[in-house]
Amino acid sequence: MKRALILSALALTTAVSLSACNIAKKSDEKAQQGPPAGGPPPPPPYQMRAEVADKDRLAPTSDGATLFSHRCGACHLTFGMGTNLITARQIAAQQKPVPLLADRTDLAADYVKAVARNGKGAMPRQTKVDVTDAELDKIAAYLGKGK
Ligand code: HEC
Repeated sequence: MKRALILSALALTTAVSLSACNIAKKSDEKAQQGPPAGGPPPPPPYQMRAEVADKDRLAPTSDGATLFSHRCGACHLTFGMGTNLITARQIAAQQKPVPLLADRTDLAADYVKAVARNGKGAMPRQTKVDVTDAELDKIAAYLGKGK
C-alpha cells in the first residue's frame, strides 16, 4: 500500500515537471517568432557614439554628424531614451515613426538650437558645458539639413 502511494506520488511529480517544461518550451518558440504583427518595427542595428577630436571645444574641427553622435548620441542614437520616447510619441500621434533625429527632414537649425538650450518635455536643457555654442551650430546645421 505504502509502495503504491510512493509510486503514484513519483508519477505525479514527473508529470507536473514535464508539463512545466512544455510551457517553457512554448514560450521560447513564441519569443523566437519576434513581435506580433502590427507591432513596432524592429530597431536598426546598435550604434556606438563617435569620438570627437580632442581640440578646442570653442573651435571644433569634427563635423556636425560626429559632434551630434558624441554630444547627443547617448540619448539620440539607436536605443537611446530620446530615440525611444520620440518613437513612442510619433506612434501615439499615428505618424509614421522616424526615430532617429539624423533621419528627420522636418527639423530647422533654429528649432534644434532652441530645444537643446531650453529642453523639451523629457529632454533636459543642454548647458554650454554639455555642448558649446560652436558645437551646437554645427550640430544644428547637420540636423537642420540647410533649413
Ligand atoms: C538626456 C538625454 C538627451 C540628450 C543628452 C539630448 N536629448 Fe534631445 N531629446 C531627448 C528626449 C527624451 C526628447 C523627447 C522629448 C519629449 O518629447 O518629451 C528629445 C527631443 C529632442 C528634439 C525634439 C524633436 C522633436 O520631434 O520635436 C530635438 C531637436 C533634440 N532632442 C535635439 C537634441 C540635441 C541637438 C542634443 C545634443 C546637443 C540632444 N537633443 C541631447 C533626450 C535627450
